Amino acid sequence: MTLAMLGGSAVRTTPFAPWPQYDHSEEEALLRVLHSRSWGGYHESVKELEKSFAAYHEVPHAVACSNGTIAIEVALKAMGIGPGDEVIVPPYTFIASASAIMLCHASPVFADINSETLNLSVEAAEAAITPRTKAIVVVHFGGRPAEMDAFQALAQRHGLKLLEDSAHAHGAKWKGVPVGGWGDISTFSFQSFKLITAGEGGMILSKSEELIDKCWAYCNQGRRRDGGWFDHYTLGTNYRITGFQSAVLCEQLKKMPAQTDLRAKNVVRFRAGLKDIPGLSLMADDPRIERHPYYLLTLRYNPEGFAGLDRDTVIRALQAEGIPAKATYPAPLYRNGVFAKQTGSLSHCSGWRAAQDYQSLYLPEAERVCKDGVWLSHTVFLGDDHDVDDVLEGLHKVQTLASTVPVLATAGKS
Ligand SMILES: Cc1ncc(COP(=O)(O)O)c(C=O)c1O
Repeated sequence: MTLAMLGGSAVRTTPFAPWPQYDHSEEEALLRVLHSRSWGGYHESVKELEKSFAAYHEVPHAVACSNGTIAIEVALKAMGIGPGDEVIVPPYTFIASASAIMLCHASPVFADINSETLNLSVEAAEAAITPRTKAIVVVHFGGRPAEMDAFQALAQRHGLKLLEDSAHAHGAKWKGVPVGGWGDISTFSFQSFKLITAGEGGMILSKSEELIDKCWAYCNQGRRRDGGWFDHYTLGTNYRITGFQSAVLCEQLKKMPAQTDLRAKNVVRFRAGLKDIPGLSLMADDPRIERHPYYLLTLRYNPEGFAGLDRDTVIRALQAEGIPAKATYPAPLYRNGVFAKQTGSLSHCSGWRAAQDYQSLYLPEAERVCKDGVWLSHTVFLGDDHDVDDVLEGLHKVQTLASTVPVLATAGKS
């Protein structure tokens, strides 16, 4: 047997489940909006989406908006975050979790992640609190809900606001409560690859009607729901979602519970098979997680199991076998120039100050996972047992033949 990257045949030659998934119901929903001639953000499908998404997360109030980045910025603004404030955020996340803080002219304070969960560490967050701290942004990374009861208690003890960035975690449940129900406010993304999608889109949920009304007004040019088109009561802008997006998302949401169950079932099979592959491991399950939507599975790579090969070579070998494994984020967020060089477009605004020396920051767990993390996306787990077995076979093949890579690669070069 030869690795595909060295000329052998690949384990898998057909694609995994396509994404996004749709059927006639999305087509019909789009046509309904088309024929209504009401294509903008006040189409009734927007309200329907807000209502059904909030109900699924057992939270009373919702505002849909144009994307998940805007959702975080608007949510922070509604909570009163502004210049001079510090907001604690993990560095192992997409840039939006932290750049939205800067877009409010506030300062991100990066605190390390917990190596067991890859979510913000409660202890690290507590240690990062200063008199300027106003809020904590918790990210449910990869769909795994963070320890929200502990974060809720921490926020209450220190009088801080709590935002759940749930862009990866639609429907996730921690200790019986869905994400969105723990923080003061929570935000979601409907970008192309997210667990439900309309290409773009976002959502803000809250138990507080007052916060949601502020978000609604900000996204709708400072209007009030009961006011007229030219009645602007507060400063706002236009961050509306469209009727087309909302209509598609209403249909996507109906499909999500079955997709979530299917992924959970497939991950159980995958987890069992992974035990036979030295050098790759998964975070342990936690019985407090009642629903995990598995947006992204992060495997930890140990070169000892793969004849000392570096992670990126193994990823290339897996891709050649038809297994769509990927490297995680290239570095913790504070290494990104927006923070490290403080060249963010708003960093020169008066009132803005860096709360940390981002350039010299070193948070070991975030650094470690950026070097040894391997991602498998949710679509890999949307198929049947054969799909899971193909992934395992691909991992197994690369692992058992890892020692052939340097020998043959060197031979090939000479
Ligand atoms: C954790 C996290 N937060 C926020 C966002 C921003 O969402 P959007 O792309 O809809 O702006 C993303 C997008 O990938 C994300 O991964």
